[in-house]
Amino acid sequence: MCGIVGFTGEKQAAPILLDGLSKLEYRGYDSAGIAVRDGDAPAEVVKAKGRLKVLAEMLDDGKALPGTCGLGHTRWATHGEPSKANAHPHVSGNCTGSGSGAVESDVVGVHNGIIENYQEIREKLLRRGYTFYSDTDTESIIKLVDYYYKKYGIGPVDALTRTMVRVRGSYALAVMFKDYPGEIYVARKDSPLIIGAGEGETFLASDVPAILKYTRSVYYIGNLEVARLTPGEVHFFDLNGDEIQHDTVEIAWDSEAAEKGGFEHFMMKEIYEQPRAVQDTLNSVVKEGRIDLTSVGLTDEEIRDISQITIVACGSAYHVGVAAQYVIEELARIPVRVELASEFRYRKPLLDPKGLVIVISQSGETADSLAALREAKQRGVPVLAIVNVVGSSIAREADKVFYTLAGPEIAVATTKAYSTQLIACDLLAIQFGRVRGLLEEERYLALIAELQTIPNKISRVLKDKERIQWFAAKFANAQDIFFIGRGLDYAISLEGSLKMKEISYVHSEAYAAGELKHGTISLIEDGTLVIGVLTQDHLYEKTVSNMVEVKSRGAYLMGLTSYGHYEMEDTANFTVYIPKTEEYFAPSLAVVPLQLMGYYISVARGLDVDKPRNLAKSVTVE
Ligand code: M6R
Repeated sequence: MCGIVGFTGEKQAAPILLDGLSKLEYRGYDSAGIAVRDGDAPAEVVKAKGRLKVLAEMLDDGKALPGTCGLGHTRWATHGEPSKANAHPHVSGNCTGSGSGAVESDVVGVHNGIIENYQEIREKLLRRGYTFYSDTDTESIIKLVDYYYKKYGIGPVDALTRTMVRVRGSYALAVMFKDYPGEIYVARKDSPLIIGAGEGETFLASDVPAILKYTRSVYYIGNLEVARLTPGEVHFFDLNGDEIQHDTVEIAWDSEAAEKGGFEHFMMKEIYEQPRAVQDTLNSVVKEGRIDLTSVGLTDEEIRDISQITIVACGSAYHVGVAAQYVIEELARIPVRVELASEFRYRKPLLDPKGLVIVISQSGETADSLAALREAKQRGVPVLAIVNVVGSSIAREADKVFYTLAGPEIAVATTKAYSTQLIACDLLAIQFGRVRGLLEEERYLALIAELQTIPNKISRVLKDKERIQWFAAKFANAQDIFFIGRGLDYAISLEGSLKMKEISYVHSEAYAAGELKHGTISLIEDGTLVIGVLTQDHLYEKTVSNMVEVKSRGAYLMGLTSYGHYEMEDTANFTVYIPKTEEYFAPSLAVVPLQLMGYYISVARGLDVDKPRNLAKSVTVE
């Protein structure tokens, strides 16, 4: 978690740093800080507890802090409470109070990641006379760089590589050395970091949206590498301090994609971007009505040989896996197991080397998913990643990558990335089914043709948003909401429930409808909202029975079903319809009203939709 930015060039750094941090606030937002150098003068550090706007106001949007080289940080607390003292940047030397103001330190830096052995480093440095001002792991690494820098009288690159050998954990670290004005040094291991190349100026950031406004030309720094940034130039070094080469990559996203574009919240903008995102993802592999996985790198021979599939992911991406399990098993008859990455990595799973592990991740940086990927690779099982962020760690380490084309997703609650992941899984299921001889040509073409109608059908669902807004307002004060469904409808319920709780803070649970009677039904009271999802015809009546059971115990019912099932109105108090589609693809439509429900309840409760409390978008720590 946490977002870091940096700039060196001829322009004023502070406004650029604050602007970059505003695009990274989704990564953490409990405190923020920047350090700026004006020529040879020492760095001036300013930090504030709370949202970035507090810091921006203190600095008159950056105008109050002159200088052309600097670093910035927005924090999601891991070690140490959210406070000004624990906010970054941290400094190597003595500072007053909580580390703000002009600092005579030799090293000033920001960090994203976790230093696992920070206690041991801290104790060592305390014995060597260093004073600590925060409870963070970061302060230890900054002071360790300073320690090696002085003890061995070496340059910044060597001080960093020595530090990298000594610390355990993950880091995207950016530091400025007092003796090297106009220069920024970065080091990376397992945490995201990109470097932007401009005309006479250089940027760094945890994620692309922070620098899109200034450049689309980026370098991806490798794991365990160091870089030296000067205005308009970047030099890379390996752990031995030897210089290495990297080429720039052009980013296709445009800067508009990272702005709200007239919507009140990123989440609503991203909900509305779903038809386009799904269409782009479809277009990336559907050629003349057929699926072509050449860009993913999967050959027909490899597809025929797959003995089993293990899908590994976290959060909403895991929910995509739950849906994909049903679709792949039915269309391609390959056994599929879905696992939470945080469980998989410690479970010593039984994996067949002829199997395929699919890792699903929007950010491509989720720590548990990345660790699961490494575990699978270590056991000799090929890994296919379904990823949104180009050049992310998961994309780089996987054997094959299916890129979803959702564009930058800024709201913490995922919507369009989830929808593109679903489509990617549907495409794989159809192609696997065809290649393995389970789908006749006619059925194969019909499924692809139907999948291509999904973007339009999502747009039709969005037209119903006022009704959902009205209904959500009625339940803005709900204590508990239950989502029930069977089969694929259970998979959708999981996602609907997560959307609800993460942004509206209303307790919600998703239950396989048939499971309610085994305990949970005792929670149903007069007026409890139960949302039944019924898009699968063969399970429709079963779920209706479960809805009737809770209704007779006082539940208030919302039914979510396809047009045509108008008898739902006899059972449910409120019904939302989605266009008819092939049942395998219904999750892509049914999820939309549930995203809107979560959104509108959050808005009605006056909450910060895009930045819900305690959360960060990229969970880059365990
Ligand atoms: O970047 P990833 O797709 O790997 O992230 C996985 C989860 O952290 C993510 O889906 C999370 O559950 C979202 N906040 C849900 O809206």
